[in-house]
Amino acid sequence: MAAPIKVVVTGAAGQIAYSLLYQIASGAVFGPEQPVYLHLLDIAPMMGVLEGVVMELADCALPLLVGVLPTASPEDAFRDVAAAFLVGAMPRKEGMERKDLLSANVRIFKEQGQAIDKVARKDIKVLVVGNPANTNALICSKYAPSIPKENFTAMTRLDQNRAQSQLAAKLGVPVKDVKNVIIWGNHSSTQFPDASNAVVTIGGAEKPVPAAVNDDEFLRNTFVSTVQKRGAAVIAARKMSSALSAAKAASDHMRDWFLGTGDRWVSMGVVSDGSYGTPKDIVFSFPVTTANGKWKIVEGLTISDFARKMLDATGKELAEEKQDALDVCKD
Ligand code: NAD
Ligand code: LMR
Repeated sequence: MAAPIKVVVTGAAGQIAYSLLYQIASGAVFGPEQPVYLHLLDIAPMMGVLEGVVMELADCALPLLVGVLPTASPEDAFRDVAAAFLVGAMPRKEGMERKDLLSANVRIFKEQGQAIDKVARKDIKVLVVGNPANTNALICSKYAPSIPKENFTAMTRLDQNRAQSQLAAKLGVPVKDVKNVIIWGNHSSTQFPDASNAVVTIGGAEKPVPAAVNDDEFLRNTFVSTVQKRGAAVIAARKMSSALSAAKAASDHMRDWFLGTGDRWVSMGVVSDGSYGTPKDIVFSFPVTTANGKWKIVEGLTISDFARKMLDATGKELAEEKQDALDVCKD
């Protein structure tokens, strides 16, 4: 059995955390041989609720869970942690865009970046889930200059999982038989879910998804807008934002980053190096592969004129969000 690692979940008394904590503590993220010590951060008024979550974790009697620290102190929460799930932030309500949350949420990520910089392990892996996730991740990284910027990522895995599921349904195949669908850009309604390089296994043979679907109109319109608007559709139905699927996606993201993807592509918001003509120094979702705890952008993909327009639109939105966030953080 490996030595335990410390893992922090923020927003630990909230609804995503309620599904996520079990997945982390049961071994679904860091593997069945990796004990974890959970640090649970929430705000002071939520400490009573958090106490109930701590009781429930104890009552799960999970062999890999070696300890739990509930706290309202960012410095206690981030001390010596190897992995951080930054979930704690306000969710949007019906009729809002995720970027409408920026002024309310971005300061949380400034403060947490500063705490990470001070007390976390220098090889910490940070996944930002709280919206607007890409820009919050950028701000968190900016306020943690002693940690490599590659260690800050934003979650677009839920969009990837949604896209994969939509394609599997269209093709009438199990979801595991669809791979390499890409989410480009922002976790917002400008994101570009791109099936042009996706592959499906049908009757034991791999086939490009565009050929198997054979419906360009569907792939450019219905598919793209269904995935772009799926979060809003869940809010309209549940009157609360996605939680079960968001927790599953957060687990998928961190597991793949820690344990590796092989040659399978996954989408992650990462600090852009300008790949594929995107603006540098924004957190942009790219297709990546991971190995030995590091991600690498998939290179050499052809970008069609249609894709170019979509990448430019989502990149422009992220550049604007970045400016707005920097203005808020000046105060
Ligand atoms: P929630 O309201 O149920 O829980 C949020 C929790 O965060 C609350 O317990 C709150 O007290 C806590 N919190 C607030 N400020 C905090 C701070 N400074 N430090 C620590 N904790 C703090 O919300 P939820 O449904 O769990 O969603 C959380 C966030 O995740 C929202 O911003 C939501 O929009 C976002 N989200 C992102 C994705 C994605 O795909 N990236 C998917 C779903 C939800
Ligand atoms: C989602 O995609 O479900 C989340 O980002 C919540 C939201 O506001 O849509």
